[in-house]
Amino acid sequence: MPTLTERAAWKALEAHFDEVGPMHLRDLFAADPTRGATLTAEAAGLFLDYSKNRLTAETIKLLVQLAEESGLAAGIEAMFSGEKINVTEKRAVLHTALRAPKGSTILVDGRNVVPDVHEVLDKMAAFADRVRSGAWTGHTGKRIRNVVNIGIGGSDLGPVMAYEALRSYSDRALTFRYVSNVDSTDFAEAVHDLNPAETLFIVSSKTFTTIETMTNAHTARDWSIAGLGGGAASVAKHFVAVSTNAAEVGKFGIDTANMFGFWDWVGGRYSMDSAIGLSTMLAIGPGGFRQLLAGFHEMDEHFRTAPFAQNLPVLMGLLGIWYGNFFGAATVAVLPYEQYLKRFPAYLQQLTMESNGKYITLDGTPVDYDTGVIYWGEPGTNGQHSFYQLIHQGTRMIPCDFIAFSHSLNPLGRHHDILIANVLAQAEALAFGKTREQVEAGGTAAWLVPHRVFEGNRPSNMIWADRLDPATLGKLVALYEHAVFTQGILWGIDSFDQWGVELGKVLANRIIPELESAKEPNLTHDSSTNNLIRRYRKAKP
Ligand code: F6P
Repeated sequence: MPTLTERAAWKALEAHFDEVGPMHLRDLFAADPTRGATLTAEAAGLFLDYSKNRLTAETIKLLVQLAEESGLAAGIEAMFSGEKINVTEKRAVLHTALRAPKGSTILVDGRNVVPDVHEVLDKMAAFADRVRSGAWTGHTGKRIRNVVNIGIGGSDLGPVMAYEALRSYSDRALTFRYVSNVDSTDFAEAVHDLNPAETLFIVSSKTFTTIETMTNAHTARDWSIAGLGGGAASVAKHFVAVSTNAAEVGKFGIDTANMFGFWDWVGGRYSMDSAIGLSTMLAIGPGGFRQLLAGFHEMDEHFRTAPFAQNLPVLMGLLGIWYGNFFGAATVAVLPYEQYLKRFPAYLQQLTMESNGKYITLDGTPVDYDTGVIYWGEPGTNGQHSFYQLIHQGTRMIPCDFIAFSHSLNPLGRHHDILIANVLAQAEALAFGKTREQVEAGGTAAWLVPHRVFEGNRPSNMIWADRLDPATLGKLVALYEHAVFTQGILWGIDSFDQWGVELGKVLANRIIPELESAKEPNLTHDSSTNNLIRRYRKAKP
């Protein structure tokens, strides 16, 4: 296959960009009054309006052609059928198996993994029911009132995002906290008002070797044992583990009967629907968790079967390529108009950037095009009063993904109408702006006119659903997972490894003893690092 920039569709897109790039959304909308209805797609209860993007129907045709020339269809089948597409780690990529219905068959090395998935789900459900009903008691016989998930990266961001997103469906008699940072403040603040006798820790780590998580887990164990006045026996009642590494779980002192497993074919950032979602299940119950999985699965089926031009994740992925590679946009802002999705942008940052932040292609050569767009965002309307200024009048193009829902989960007076008016207004203002003529017509003083002109022509997607519920959250996450996959295929990179995080870990492990040794260490770093280490050692109590 020719490299990305040598494919016929890429070359056609370059020529097409010269023509479409300068066009203004005002003119595109004026030329086609049906645009707002036609440049849309709907699946699995999610509606995508992509009409406020700087493109024409021809752009979509060419992007779809690029996807076809890039082998996207074969890539999708390879992923769903369990081929080892994570080539640098020689692993299958089967987060889709985590939400496959009972009775389906997905083979990894000749073994059907679907029954394994459901066995773990059933074990999680039995445990969640016992905790939620009060049948599972702590060391002193008290029921569990607090659940603290200890994990980082994919073992934290998905669970905390899902807990926040689905809080309205959660058991309010239980308190949930999430500890991720090795900064001891995170642990201290998470437990400061908790009673150890009523507190259950879930140590979530795929590898069970991650230094942040293991440090927090040991601190939690000390806190729990000290608070209970008990011994190691209490650990069995107050600690469970989610991991692929039974040996390390056992070494930590957690009975492996209280371990919930998953598999190396689940990437950390794709694991919120595995046993890593145990805290989510404790919060919303096994039934709610199964709805979440059903939502994921519905989007999986859509991604696998829908024609690319109507395929939501494919369209979203291709739009990312269009802006990132042709317009040179470096970032995408994700702007949920739903307070419960406040951690969704942070979750997406790991999903998108740890997946596609790569400059080496699958065949080991450097890319000659940009990859991995930067994702960021905050819920609306808050962001409107902080960084939207730059999106409206700054010098950089920032495509936006707006996410909105027809119904609020807490309807109060006019709030939701005002919220929705704002998301619609922002997309409208970004696209169409305000011309010099319009500003002048409003009687603005001449010197002020340039400041009050909005160029417009700033692109956005509108992702719309009925209401935020477990199934819808599953659909939304799967939408972005598969958009990331689509981009990874086109860019020809391994979206499922993360070698870029290794060097920092290795260097930190080298520095730790240099900070802790009683004897002055022989420092051989660069002069800046040496100097900072000396400064820290001097300040240490
Ligand atoms: O350092 C990156 C990373 O490996 C992520 O990919 C992963 O989600 C996170 O660390 C946590 O890893 P673990 O679940 O093994 O503790």
